Amino acid sequence: MNCDVADLSLAAGGKKRILWADNDMPVLAEIRKRFAKSKPLKGKNISACLHVTAGTANLMRTLKAAVANAVLCGSNPLSTQDDVAASLVKDFKIPVFAVCGENRSTYYKHINAAIDHKPVITFDDGADLVNELHTRRKKEGHRIIASMEETTTGVIRLKALANAGKLKFPVISVNDAASKHLFDNRYGTGQSTVDGIIRATDFLLAGTKVVVAGYGWCGRGLAMRARGMGAIVIVTEIDPIKALEAAMDGFEVMSMAQAAKVGGLFVTLTGNKNVIRAEHFRAMKDRAVVANSGHFNVEIDIPALKKISKKINRDVRNYTDEYIMQNNRRIYLLADGRLINLAAAEGHPASVMDMSFATQALEAEYVIKKQGGLTVAVHDVPIEIEQRVCRLKLKSMSIGIDKLTPEQVDYLASSGEGT
Ligand code: NAI
Repeated sequence: MNCDVADLSLAAGGKKRILWADNDMPVLAEIRKRFAKSKPLKGKNISACLHVTAGTANLMRTLKAAVANAVLCGSNPLSTQDDVAASLVKDFKIPVFAVCGENRSTYYKHINAAIDHKPVITFDDGADLVNELHTRRKKEGHRIIASMEETTTGVIRLKALANAGKLKFPVISVNDAASKHLFDNRYGTGQSTVDGIIRATDFLLAGTKVVVAGYGWCGRGLAMRARGMGAIVIVTEIDPIKALEAAMDGFEVMSMAQAAKVGGLFVTLTGNKNVIRAEHFRAMKDRAVVANSGHFNVEIDIPALKKISKKINRDVRNYTDEYIMQNNRRIYLLADGRLINLAAAEGHPASVMDMSFATQALEAEYVIKKQGGLTVAVHDVPIEIEQRVCRLKLKSMSIGIDKLTPEQVDYLASSGEGT
């Protein structure tokens, strides 16, 4: 099999983790069972560029059960779980091109291997594969029926491409489905970011001033989880509505310039660049910890931190570099500014990825059914798919909900009844 993983002898451990995660992914398991019978993706070449985690492995198994020819490459150089990659190859016969810690050129070599597979559907987490199909591998774009995008930053990139009139094939903004971002971005990122920071630093959150940059879906998740562990949470924002929401949710809101002076731990989750810059580092207290959980490693201005540091001690703990600034204060940068929850921890818990990947799997079935029927644009996931995923998840949690009575249906559809 054409593949590139770190070490096939890690497969046994990876298989255990994939099957463990599967226990927490009942919605995806049910879809997999149905796909195995109806084979909706039969013979379709699919290339997925996703974080290679145990949850993702179960999505790949689901695509394979639908009789797709699916391959996987990583969507971040540091997020690949090498044991999971090994097991996908060895136990599930799914080609993987991903090695944890790969450099930029290997990262792109792996994306190109996934493009060599001649996909008709692609899955992306951050739009690196689709970007390749619009730049260096333009000629390969013609056969794409649709491409799914998993994260906010990817959707921003794709919308920019569409607005510039340069988008070449239909893309689906899976991130914007309520069954995805309401749960994955908020509860998944919230919990796993705390997990990554604790694994990297053994930091005590109780009583610590935690500065959360960005009060979007991910930032809200982290702010609520950090508060739950006793942190004093400060939010920074550029959007007045989100800033006000954070204030009324009971968080301190201030500018990064103010927060830099008082914070103990800083986490960026904005999808933007250079949110923490030289002037902020200079104002920080000795031994401040800085991490990023946004998609790309550009949210923290690392070149600026290097410039104002007189010494860097690498790996003072796993995933922790110590920067000694010219003012003699120390800054601890985690995971080189890459997604801390995927670099230092295991990414989102499988239970929340169940819904994201169930949405992805149903959407793949949908685009095949719609073949030729989608315009070249960024499309939303149909509401029926979002509701179906949430219904299945509720069922798996043994939660029943009410149904509208016929009288209520009429009432909601009429304007007659008032005061
Ligand atoms: P969002 O759009 O809901 O929130 C981003 C927030 O950041 C917005 O409220 C925006 O106003 C704010 N912001 C932008 N520039 C800022 C600045 N300079 N200072 C302070 N705030 C600023 O996006 P979402 O869904 O919360 O995603 C955020 C990032 O996290 C994206 O890059 C996304 O791709 C990534 N992500 C990471 C995950 C992970 O596993 N770590 C999972 C899901 C998303």
